[in-house]
Amino acid sequence: MSTQRSYRIAPSILSADFARLGDEVRAVVAAGADWIHFDVMDNHYVPNLTFGPMVCQALRRHTTAPIDVHLMVQPVDALAQAFCQAGADLVSFHPDASTHVDRTLQLIRGEGKQTGLVFNPAAPLDVLEWVIDKVDLVLVMSVNPGFGGQSFIDSALRKIERARRLIDASGRDIRLEVDGGIKVDNIRRAADAGADTFVAGSAIFGQSDYKAVIDAMRRALA
Ligand code: DX5
Ligand code: ZN
Repeated sequence: MSTQRSYRIAPSILSADFARLGDEVRAVVAAGADWIHFDVMDNHYVPNLTFGPMVCQALRRHTTAPIDVHLMVQPVDALAQAFCQAGADLVSFHPDASTHVDRTLQLIRGEGKQTGLVFNPAAPLDVLEWVIDKVDLVLVMSVNPGFGGQSFIDSALRKIERARRLIDASGRDIRLEVDGGIKVDNIRRAADAGADTFVAGSAIFGQSDYKAVIDAMRRALA
C-alpha cells in the first residue's frame, strides 16, 4: 500500500553550510528535493539555537519549493505567525510547547498556511483525536529534537503505524512525515510503516553529491 503513496523528500538545512544557505537551498532543490525542511530551535524548548523568520524570508527568494518550518520553540504563537508572514508554506509545532493547541492551529490556518503537529519520541498521539480536522501534517520524531546526526529510534516505527491508522480513519488528506536519523538504508522501513514524507539532514548534506543520495532514497522507496 505504501508504494502507491506519493513520497516527498525534505532535506533539513540544519546540516547545510550556514555560511552559504542560499546556494545550499538551490543546490539541494536542483538535486531533487521536494521540500526544504527548516529547523527552528530556541535554546529553550530544545538545547540548541538556529535561525528565525528573517532567515526564512531571505531564503524564500532562493526557491519556489515549499518551505516546511519545524518549530522547536516555546512559546509558539508569535513565532508561528512570524514564519507564516516570512514565506513558510507549512508551520509545524510540538503540541506540548503550545498552551492552546487548537488556537495555534487556527492561527496558522488563518494566515493561509498549512499546519503540522510534531510528536517527540516519548509523546503520545492523543491530541490528534481532537484536532485532526485542523491538521495538514503529522510529524513523528525519530530522534529527540535539538540536533542533527543522531541515530533513528526504532519505536518511532510503531508510532508511524499508529499515526497512519488515525490518518486513514479520518479520511483526510494529511501527510505523515518522519524526522531524525533517516538514511538510504532505513527510509524504506519508515515508508513501510506508513510515512510519506521524509526529512533527512546529515544523510544528504553530509555527502558532496546531494543528487546521488536523493536518487538512492527514491530507489529505496520505489
Ligand atoms: C532535529 C531536527 C531534524 C534534524 C534531522 O531536531 O528536527 O530535522 O535536522 O537531522 P538528521 O537527518 O541528521 O537526523
Ligand atoms: Zn526537523
